[in-house]
Amino acid sequence: MIRKPKGTNDILPQDIYRWHYLENMIKEISAMFGYREIRTPIFESTDLFIRGVGDGTDIVDKEMYSFVDRGGRSMSLRPEGTASVARAYLEHSMDKIQERQKVYYIGPMFRYEKPQAGRFRQHYQFGLEFFGESSPLADVEVISLAYTLYNKLGIKNISINLNSVGCDKCRKEFSNALKKFLEINLDKLCEDCHRRYYKNPLRVFDCKNKNCKEILSEAPITTNYLCDECKNDFENVKHGLDMLGISYKVTPTLVRGLDYYTKTVFEVVSLTLGAQNAIGGGGRYNNLIEELDGPDIPAVGFAAGMERIILSMDNEDINIPHCDDIELRIVPIGKKALEICFRLAYDFRKLGVKTEMDYRNKSLKANLKLANKNNEPFILIVGDDELIEKKGKLKDMKENKETLVSLDNLENIIKIIRGENAKKD
Ligand code: HAM
Repeated sequence: MIRKPKGTNDILPQDIYRWHYLENMIKEISAMFGYREIRTPIFESTDLFIRGVGDGTDIVDKEMYSFVDRGGRSMSLRPEGTASVARAYLEHSMDKIQERQKVYYIGPMFRYEKPQAGRFRQHYQFGLEFFGESSPLADVEVISLAYTLYNKLGIKNISINLNSVGCDKCRKEFSNALKKFLEINLDKLCEDCHRRYYKNPLRVFDCKNKNCKEILSEAPITTNYLCDECKNDFENVKHGLDMLGISYKVTPTLVRGLDYYTKTVFEVVSLTLGAQNAIGGGGRYNNLIEELDGPDIPAVGFAAGMERIILSMDNEDINIPHCDDIELRIVPIGKKALEICFRLAYDFRKLGVKTEMDYRNKSLKANLKLANKNNEPFILIVGDDELIEKKGKLKDMKENKETLVSLDNLENIIKIIRGENAKKD
């Protein structure tokens, strides 16, 4: 039997309500904060990610699904959404349409990582990007949107880690200090960190090696090298979060694994997940648009792993409402009734009622068993005899109560099954 690729997931029909619930919440909250959806291709030119995410990052060096297409071009499945959205923003001159653009996206991302609990080779992300606003209040807005989402989903055990990695100016000084530190410790660091030292020193902080982590705990920290502007912006981000009552932990070692960040970086961690506990992360990236040959436009954004959000909801025993369950099962008893009921099911569906029926003339007992198994709240039984009077028996499965209803008045039946005041026919 052919099986799904390692590190991927099938989301089965019995679980899809969880995803619909999450997606609906994302759409609702994004709209509340003024973000509109954007959809970009799942694959892009490999170059986009090399320039956007950065040569020397684990994502680009080790994790991309890259291939040469039939036209000889190097393409990659997107490992993340920011570079693609920035590319679309430039390609469609979105800055000319409106100075500030706020967009969000939901979709699969691909990273060739070692699969484990909460870490997949294909994972879904909800992400958002805010272009054209340099005020630190935009950073606070993005963090507050993320916070609102986790909050509305009922996830309580989270912590927001916050840092500033500075701008080009102050990063140079930090980078020099870091290089000096690494030079002294080079013989104690792993092979990967040696490579990082020469290619992209900041990336040593992505190392998962325990020994390297210990050595790096003594390394210089970004916040000690911030220029006045970056220092001031960082203070304003913290002040904004304080103002909204959103708690955070300043985490000087947080640099994030993508090269495009400037100034604010943050990560949201679930305290109920194991090693893969980041349920979201983001930050400001004021140079990316320029690096992709665009104008000087500041931006800030965030993305969350949707599988990890659902996992943390499970860990916190959060009940996810079933939003697309069947409301009514129609049960024909007899040959004539089958045709009438088939038409009736269509009428109910057109009226917006989630309706199901079996076409094989199954017995009432078999239908009851099915309705019970699927937790269906109502069944409408229509027998050949009842048809003469155009009536049916509406059975409330929970209350075990039957009501005689007119098949000429579907609105009335809908009122009963939805618990609105209705009269018996
Ligand atoms: P990221 O931290 O690489 O950031 O990914 C965002 C989130 O996606 C993570 O916090 C995590 O929840 C989830 N995630 C990442 N990799 C995996 C995986 N292999 N399996 C399961 N979940 C995963 C970004 O991608 C940036 N583009 C975020 C951003 C947007 N920054 C600015 N704008």
